[in-house]
Amino acid sequence: MSKVKTKFVCQECGAESSKWLGRCPGCGEWNTLVEEVAVKKSETRLTAAPAPKPQPITMVDTSAMPRLLTGVGEFDRVLGGGIVPGALILIGGDPGIGKSTLLLQVAAGIADKQGPVLYITGEESAAQVKIRAERLGKISNNLLIFTENNLETIVLEALHHKPALVIIDSIQTMYSPDIPSAPGSVGQVRESTGKLMRFAKESGIPTAIIGHVTKEGNIAGPRLLEHMVDVVLYFEGERSYAFRVLRAIKNRFGSTNESGIFSMEEHGLAEVSNPSGLLLAERPQGAPGSVVLAYMEGVRPLLIEIQALVSTTCFGMPRRMAAGFDYNRLILLMAVLEKRVGLMLANQDAYVNAVGGFKIAEPAADLSVALAIASSFRSTAIDSLTVVMGEVGLTGEVRMISRAEARIAEAAALGFKRFVIPAGNFPGLKLARTAGLDIIGAASVSEAMEAVFI
Ligand code: TYD
Ligand code: MG
Repeated sequence: MSKVKTKFVCQECGAESSKWLGRCPGCGEWNTLVEEVAVKKSETRLTAAPAPKPQPITMVDTSAMPRLLTGVGEFDRVLGGGIVPGALILIGGDPGIGKSTLLLQVAAGIADKQGPVLYITGEESAAQVKIRAERLGKISNNLLIFTENNLETIVLEALHHKPALVIIDSIQTMYSPDIPSAPGSVGQVRESTGKLMRFAKESGIPTAIIGHVTKEGNIAGPRLLEHMVDVVLYFEGERSYAFRVLRAIKNRFGSTNESGIFSMEEHGLAEVSNPSGLLLAERPQGAPGSVVLAYMEGVRPLLIEIQALVSTTCFGMPRRMAAGFDYNRLILLMAVLEKRVGLMLANQDAYVNAVGGFKIAEPAADLSVALAIASSFRSTAIDSLTVVMGEVGLTGEVRMISRAEARIAEAAALGFKRFVIPAGNFPGLKLARTAGLDIIGAASVSEAMEAVFI
């Protein structure tokens, strides 16, 4: 029998302690340490395959690394060209964002062409999964649905069926009988992930696990799963909008710059080939407060409309609101406009919105937000074929951004003619000499304003 010992684990950061402490030594939070019983596991191997031995790196066989193509192009691209054998992939996201839908589509794509897929559902009944698969129009005998929460049983079934892919929906509902804590607790989630890692590596069967993001934005509370798995993908979006973005946060087999863009439709997730065109489809022409931004979503340029509405405050404190843009950054940009450009915004309410439900977390968006506010404040529209990009500093200077060339190329392909970019980006720009493009390098917010408000 194995030896049982007690330890205390922080529910926030996963730090461990041998005795109870009021304050976590890892993250400094109070009252987060919870007792867990750790079990020393027997070191048995899951499969009958011979145990690996140390070998010279020159002898390592890399030929047996064909990637599994899922048939969902955007998913494959984010992974770096399909699923690597034996990979453990974590897909995180808010509840209801579409993780189960995405993975069911991936499962169906593989089951169609590559072989059986074992879909383990701990949250929904087999009937619910079937109804969803029918809604997606993807139903196949190669898709095996298994309603089970016990990881030991799951691993045994998976070894028996030898599927092309195992999907665990979700890790928070799984438990390993080795430890007594409840499913979803830090100990269980970590233990279950560890077991799945061993299973994936020893059997060579790639495994995808779904993890719900908690209020704090971490998978399973602490970020303890991220370092255990090979690939971490986040599926994000605003539930009330159709757009969803799949991002790689960590990828042991590829880059983390790729992102996939989907839209949630009546019959599942559709890949979006021209997101910029779709995002700008409803843009008002000649309306004050509307500016087009060239934004980098990973390595992919996207055109997004930034809208601002500035109006005189009625009662006391002015209100400021930002949707899809950082609130504090908005306050900072308004202070820069007031102090460095001389716009009297102190008694003005201001609302800023990135259209389409995207979260813009790139400094290159600063200048477009500043110009949208200025445009609304002055009730003067900015020419609708203009694209704006640039980071704004505290002295009102416009700072250089990355990949200006790619952003301009994307916008030019969609028919945009004028580009307001940081002056520092201008000298290196090959596109600057392209006929028909009017590219303006601005060193400060004032210069950018002179360029757009003629
Ligand atoms: P789901 O995949 O269950 O989310 P998660 O697993 O991340 O919790 O997706 C739930 C939402 O997606 C739900 O609100 C309904 C919507 N949806 C569609 O709009 N179209 C579809 O074809 C499907 C299957 C779901
Ligand atoms: Mg789900």
